[in-house]
Amino acid sequence: MSKNTANQLSETRVFKPAKEFSKKARIQNMAQYRALWEESVKRPDKFWAREAADLCWNKKWLKVLDWQEPFAKWFVGGRLNVAENCLDRHLGTARQNKAAIIWEGEPGERRVITYQQLHREVCLFANVLKRNKIKKGERVLIYMPMIPEAAIAMLACARLGIVHSVVFGGFSAESIKDRVADCGAVAVITADGGYRRGAIVPLKANVDAALKDGGHPVKRVIVFRRAGNDIHIEEGRDVWWHRELEYVDANCPPVPLDSEAPLFILYTSGSTGKPKGILHSTAGYLLGAHISCKYVFDLRDDDVYWCTADIGWVTGHSYVVYGPLSMGATSLMYEGAPNWPDNGRFWKIIEEFSVSVLYTAPTAIRAFIKWGDEWPKKHDLSSLRLLGTVGEPINPEAWMWYHNVIGGGRCPIVDTWWQTETGGHMITSLPGATPTKPGTATLPFFGVDAAVVDDNGQEVPPNTMGKLVIRKPWPSMLRTVWGDKARYKKTYWSEFKGMYFAGDGARRDKDGYFWITGRIDDVLNVAGHRIGTAEVEGALVSHPAVAEAAVVGRPDEIKGQGVVCFVTVKQGVKADYALRDALKKHVRTMIGPVATPDEIRFAEVLPKTRSGKIMRRLLKQIAAGNAVTGDTTTLEDFSILAKLGSAED
Ligand code: WT7
Repeated sequence: MSKNTANQLSETRVFKPAKEFSKKARIQNMAQYRALWEESVKRPDKFWAREAADLCWNKKWLKVLDWQEPFAKWFVGGRLNVAENCLDRHLGTARQNKAAIIWEGEPGERRVITYQQLHREVCLFANVLKRNKIKKGERVLIYMPMIPEAAIAMLACARLGIVHSVVFGGFSAESIKDRVADCGAVAVITADGGYRRGAIVPLKANVDAALKDGGHPVKRVIVFRRAGNDIHIEEGRDVWWHRELEYVDANCPPVPLDSEAPLFILYTSGSTGKPKGILHSTAGYLLGAHISCKYVFDLRDDDVYWCTADIGWVTGHSYVVYGPLSMGATSLMYEGAPNWPDNGRFWKIIEEFSVSVLYTAPTAIRAFIKWGDEWPKKHDLSSLRLLGTVGEPINPEAWMWYHNVIGGGRCPIVDTWWQTETGGHMITSLPGATPTKPGTATLPFFGVDAAVVDDNGQEVPPNTMGKLVIRKPWPSMLRTVWGDKARYKKTYWSEFKGMYFAGDGARRDKDGYFWITGRIDDVLNVAGHRIGTAEVEGALVSHPAVAEAAVVGRPDEIKGQGVVCFVTVKQGVKADYALRDALKKHVRTMIGPVATPDEIRFAEVLPKTRSGKIMRRLLKQIAAGNAVTGDTTTLEDFSILAKLGSAED
């Protein structure tokens, strides 16, 4: 049992929402939550038809759900446009001149963009896309810093039915190359560079490196000038964003799109070496993002809402851009690092913009704890009314610190469990209703039929560990893995018949609350980012010195998990410090800084079962520094254990 699981089991504290909070909330008590939840799973047609009426439709749907397991179509026959829902419909209302995006760059510049201005910018840029002959249904990669233009690029694609695939700025040239090839992108939208801890991330240079060998469908690269660093412009392929704007006007009607039209592809790690392109579609996805902002963040017109995620992750899609804008909310974006120029940056932003809702990750919270209470204490955080967390199980200590030091004991915490695949929140508290307990995401959101089951798919009794599944389709579910229906079926719908398998372990307590214990597949959660062990292994063995590699996670105080690599080298190669550093660098080049190994351990041979499978359980124990326990009789070579234990130089 992990330390975190042990802590979770002994947790007994309960925090009820404050009366004043509940009184103003959309869902004010548990009876209301239960009644709506019952309706949402028992009469989904009724529930979803009512919620979908919040969106603006060009043509109403004929049927709420068409479910041909595991393929879902929601709001069949309907037509709408996501950008129109996020922008146009706020024009001519009191929101027209309200801040849609408040942005702060890492060096300190600020921009406030109203709905009217954002609409105009999106129309202009959509016309740039048209001018560059990028068409509905085609794919475009977005590789940008956290600047408003990233959201503008996404919304401009959505306006025309162009499918975007955002690649996190911390991914490498190799990752861009793989994604371009997988989704057949015809264009890349990028910036010269972006700021991170005072340095400039060379985004355009990474794009150049990704495209240099040719043999890909990219015919256009649109470059926004952000950092002013020198870049290469490839004649005939590359154009400047600001130059292109000179040729277009701001007249660009949104294209009415089928409910099921693909909206975006977002790559995420799985248990094989190749990241999966998770495909989300128009109506269901938007509705999922929208109603979670409505009920979970309970967003109001006077909120200043800040989700600290990068738009390169699904959290940035659903909770920086699409969800909040469809609600007509004010979404704050910050470009850089939380500890630049000092450890108080987040708290300074909250004070200076009067942020009222903060949504961040446990890994960040643990870093803040480490940096010391003096940083938040220097700032007035009294504008906050609600806190959220996402990305991994939050340990009760971190929860309590967030509650007391940041929330002043006053703000409810919504611990939101969901995934790239689910599009929006799935298991979460509702801030005006749910009594919370530190460390649990609590109860299923509307429309979500979640359960914990054993290996036969039978629901387990309370307080028994099992696998987390969802037993009914939901509107914002992924539609498929891009170009690989078989992988979609196999990964998510083949573990148990009729159930979506999330890849997480969980238990429910006597109140039915879900305690997520983390991934049970070969996926690591490092600082809230999903890293496939097979991906890192693939990167390692692509280095000429490496014969074999096995990658496992080990508990990490701040990041949740750290990446530990066991490596055997080819004959004649010296396993030394220099090689260790070279391998770390190689992984960064192949995948990106997010996947940087914390430790490389050289071994003569890797421990394997008789059938040749690497014994990960054993390696995990060794990586965590635990004594090896359990049955090891299937080991091919017992002597290997001793060698592995002392392999680190
Ligand atoms: C995995 C999904 C959803 C956006 C961020 C990550 C873990 C996420 C929680 C939470 C416990 C959580 C799960 C999940 N996870 N939120 N509140 N409590 N675990 O998206 O990269 O698709 O990762 O993150 O293990 O499967 P992702």
